[in-house]
Amino acid sequence: MADHIVAIDQGTTSTRAIVFDARLRPVATASREFRQIFPKPGWVEHDPEDLWATTVATVSEAMARAGLTAADVAGIGIANQRETTVLWDRRTGKAAANAIVWQDRRTAAICATMREAGDEPEVTARTGLVLDPYFSATKLGWLLDETDGARERAQAGDLAFGTVDAFLIWRLTGGAVHATDATNACRTLLYEVTEGRFDERLCERFGVPAALLPEIRDSSGSFGETLPGLFGGPIRILGVAGDQQAATAGQACFEPGMAKVTYGTGAFALLHTGDAPVFSDNKLLTTVALQLGGRRTFALEGAIFVAGAAVQWLRDGLKLVREASETEALAKAADPEQDVYLVPAFVGLGAPHWDPEARAALIGLTRGTGQAEIARATLESVGYQTADLMDAMRADWPRGEVGRALRVDGGMVASDWTMQFLADILDVEVDRPEIRETTALGAAYLAGLAAGVCPEPAEFAKAWRLERRFSPAMDAETRRRKLAGWADAVGRVKSR
Ligand code: G3P
Repeated sequence: MADHIVAIDQGTTSTRAIVFDARLRPVATASREFRQIFPKPGWVEHDPEDLWATTVATVSEAMARAGLTAADVAGIGIANQRETTVLWDRRTGKAAANAIVWQDRRTAAICATMREAGDEPEVTARTGLVLDPYFSATKLGWLLDETDGARERAQAGDLAFGTVDAFLIWRLTGGAVHATDATNACRTLLYEVTEGRFDERLCERFGVPAALLPEIRDSSGSFGETLPGLFGGPIRILGVAGDQQAATAGQACFEPGMAKVTYGTGAFALLHTGDAPVFSDNKLLTTVALQLGGRRTFALEGAIFVAGAAVQWLRDGLKLVREASETEALAKAADPEQDVYLVPAFVGLGAPHWDPEARAALIGLTRGTGQAEIARATLESVGYQTADLMDAMRADWPRGEVGRALRVDGGMVASDWTMQFLADILDVEVDRPEIRETTALGAAYLAGLAAGVCPEPAEFAKAWRLERRFSPAMDAETRRRKLAGWADAVGRVKSR
């Protein structure tokens, strides 16, 4: 019987496919890393063929491991790295250039010029976003300007734009469907967040021909079906969401005031704000949480560009550890008297600072500083950055307490030490769920909902299970001192 769901989690550094059974228990997983391309400092690209090949390979492998054929699968759900920009040929499906990844800063100068021209207030009012290279529009403008003949081909309707979800849907359906969902569309800077559609004036402002854009659909619903040759028979694509919104669904944060943070390459905090968009006074982003049955719910989002990536830097750049998990033992052994801070602004600073020109720094080093203190500073940087986001959320969300208990997921939450520090520095309970693959779970849920295999959100929320709660134990004076040291360190790396 077709009651299993395959979730694709196409992330920044790896593609994963997870097969869930009808009760949304994970039964098989496959994962593939792919090449990160850094053509110049601050530039980050992916080869769209890698995104495609790892998607097909992981889905096939996970299905084989679960012993499933296409006929056993009720639907595919896609969660994807957001904002990453792909431009491809409608006839051949071939990408016109490498994808420009969300972390890429090459359009910082374009954003700065637009800011200086006074464009930001209107852009923010319409999109709920800020003028930062993070989002798709300036990346797309860059691709159109810098790829031979692209602008002409775009005007002629020969090219298609999409975030990674739309590119994968196009490829999976053999070009039959050019569509995205509202959670991805709202990250482009081309989407009018109050009205819920791509906006002509925004397109004009960013020099994007409307002919390039995908259709915007619900996050749970039909996105066509896969070419029969790919997985031994057609499978319906029934759920699509940006990975952070998928994780918010996987964490069952469906009620206003509920918040989650996902610690992956970066870290993304989303606070559910209900049926109407809430605009931030503190440089958080207004984002669509989900669109179900034409009805949208919203979130305030804080995006940190470097979380797990800082630990990767310790491992691959500094060669301080061989495995990321070794950082925890080092942090425990660090000298508590040393106030060492890492501000991991390797690709600038995201929310709430939005400073693409800032660069990382290690501050407070003495002759006694060693690997342990640097490892601790790296893990702590994740907590401090989250604290900055939570402060902004509290200021923006006067309706009651923000995230009295914060739900966490992603690779870094495996570190008990880091989660305890997070609870200590935020002074909130930090809740780690039983299922930590919340991004894939959310995508599977959205597909399962459309397939009629999964219940309505309120019912699904009842199945959320706590694995461990971390309660704050740090005294107020230590917290105050440490946060003041962090604020000072951030002040030193800012470019403006
Ligand atoms: O906005 C970028 C985000 O969607 C990337 O998430 O998990 O691939 O780091 P992740």
